[in-house]
Amino acid sequence: MKAKRLLIPGPVPLEGRIAEELAKPAVPHYGKQWVEAYRETEGLLKKLFRMKDSRVYPLAGPGHVGLEAVVTTLLRPEDKALVIDNGFFGRRLREMLDAHGIEAFSIHSRWGSPPDMRRVEEVLSSRYIRALFAVHSETSTGMINPLRELGSLAHEYGSLFVVDAVSSLGGLDLPCDDWRVDACVGASQKCLGAAPGIAPAAVRSSILEGVDPSEVKAWYFNLLTWDRYSDEWGNWHPQPTTISTNVFAAFKVALEAVFEEGLDRRVERHKTVGRAYREAMRSMEFRTVAQEEDCSDTVTCVRPPTGFDAVELQKRLGEDFGILVAGGIGELKGEVLRIGHMGPTANLQDLLSVVEALGSILKESKDVDVKSALEVATSMSKGFFD
Ligand SMILES: Cc1ncc(COP(=O)(O)O)c(C=O)c1O
Repeated sequence: MKAKRLLIPGPVPLEGRIAEELAKPAVPHYGKQWVEAYRETEGLLKKLFRMKDSRVYPLAGPGHVGLEAVVTTLLRPEDKALVIDNGFFGRRLREMLDAHGIEAFSIHSRWGSPPDMRRVEEVLSSRYIRALFAVHSETSTGMINPLRELGSLAHEYGSLFVVDAVSSLGGLDLPCDDWRVDACVGASQKCLGAAPGIAPAAVRSSILEGVDPSEVKAWYFNLLTWDRYSDEWGNWHPQPTTISTNVFAAFKVALEAVFEEGLDRRVERHKTVGRAYREAMRSMEFRTVAQEEDCSDTVTCVRPPTGFDAVELQKRLGEDFGILVAGGIGELKGEVLRIGHMGPTANLQDLLSVVEALGSILKESKDVDVKSALEVATSMSKGFFD
């Protein structure tokens, strides 16, 4: 069976040397060479998070491992937290805080619409909130949250600012220092273009220094454990446990590729492709869930034109065109298509094949100008991919 083109919002297809690295013979997760690779990876992560005074962690596991490690290390059950809930992954953060017995408040807004900043300020100002949690790119709705404004409000009221950057790290602009992000977590399998299995995290050092180790009721999910191994076993085994060495090595190659391309250029590539996707899709009467100014450039989340069914379109794309996109989750289940353009899939070729395939399905029962949609996509990417 011919492999399908994977255009879901992560994991992304593994390309060239990243895939090759993954297939190499296994190496030990300790020893001189391993330590060198581990330290180099930490150096690359420092550059990626743009958080100067920080400790970075290439945690082994999915993105949630990083998020949960931040929660268990920085918050206690008696703490209060505030969560921006305008999508599936914002709600997940709330679920996680609830599971740890932390008193959490949510700022709800319609999925795909930005938070009401007055409500955020009301909650932050009326009680001491240890941390404000927000998702950067909400993969369930295709929108971005206003991190700069949220970070500034959190700091005004003495709260930490924790960001889920799982579907934005390495794809969207994310200057953690400028936006006053105190803890940030990404994932290997999305904009970074690596295999699933590493959750890169960064936490401001001064915050970690203020944590009382005896109060952290976790071991693996305790970033102080990672710090301890980095210090005490740093010359041979700098992390507390085994890490899948191949996944890690491929992750390092992917990070190197990010900086070879250049972070700014990579962000620009995602911006170009994101805008072109949205305009081309709108020209065929798809509607984005979020307003244009709030849309994420790493995932396009659209409702189909009137009379078309999202689930059916998703199925046809897979069966007839070999293109795998995602459907809606949570409140948007069955209502939308979600197309990932992250890392290797943020390119003009994939965009044109999606537009062409969707256009030809619509054309069976609707008058659609597919040629003009393709022209929109091409002209909006002009100058970048020529
Ligand atoms: C914004 C966001 N947060 C968290 C996650 C969870 O990541 P993981 O499945 O790697 O734990 C995802 C996965 O799609 C996501 O998009």
